[in-house]
Amino acid sequence: REMIGYTNNIKDNDEYTYNHSVNVAVYSLFIGSLLDLNKEELRELCQAALLHDLGKSNIPNEILNKKGKLTKEEFELVKKHPLDGYKLSKEMPFLSEKVRYGILCHHEREDGSGYPYGIKGEEINLYAKIIAIGDVYDALTSERVYKEKSTPFEAIEEFYNMGFEKFDTNILNLFLKNIVQLYVNSKVELSNGRVGKIKFIHPNKITQPVVKIDGDYLKLWEDNYLKIEEIVG
Ligand SMILES: [Fe+2]
Repeated sequence: REMIGYTNNIKDNDEYTYNHSVNVAVYSLFIGSLLDLNKEELRELCQAALLHDLGKSNIPNEILNKKGKLTKEEFELVKKHPLDGYKLSKEMPFLSEKVRYGILCHHEREDGSGYPYGIKGEEINLYAKIIAIGDVYDALTSERVYKEKSTPFEAIEEFYNMGFEKFDTNILNLFLKNIVQLYVNSKVELSNGRVGKIKFIHPNKITQPVVKIDGDYLKLWEDNYLKIEEIVG
């Protein structure tokens, strides 16, 4: 019950951050169940995910929804939100310290390239590692004022390009290979304009599924120029 009040505060502040937080909670719970976390851990993970961007309430909306690139000063301000969120979460006695660390460390990266502390690997709290993946995945697959949304298949390429080693690779692998399976039987539009249905996803070629078009099965991995442009249904 207490959680609803706090998440509603996020909603009043910025609608995108609220929707994003709910999405990240759904992805985090998906990962948590793939990792066989127990009920209590899933509850804590959900709290941390819903509140992970709590500290963004201190950032002006013009910066949060800015179209162009952030200036150095603006980015420094944005980088304060994990610590601000942690401080705000201290005022919520029903949260455990593990949950607060999940909020504090969700922008830390496995290789030490994250913020606020640049800690790495096992120094990063498990909830934060999970939320980091859900956070980036939702950002990639959502439309923003400054960018179009990516398909789940493009998002996998983007994780690879930005450096999959920034994330816990075991958790990232587990998440990506399971999330794409949810798109089997989805209707998709290919880059040549044709529409078909995803029929099979090869575990070793998860970005290039088999698509059925007018009775033909097209193996996308046989044509590197053809890709899924959009999920249409
Ligand atoms: Fe964040």
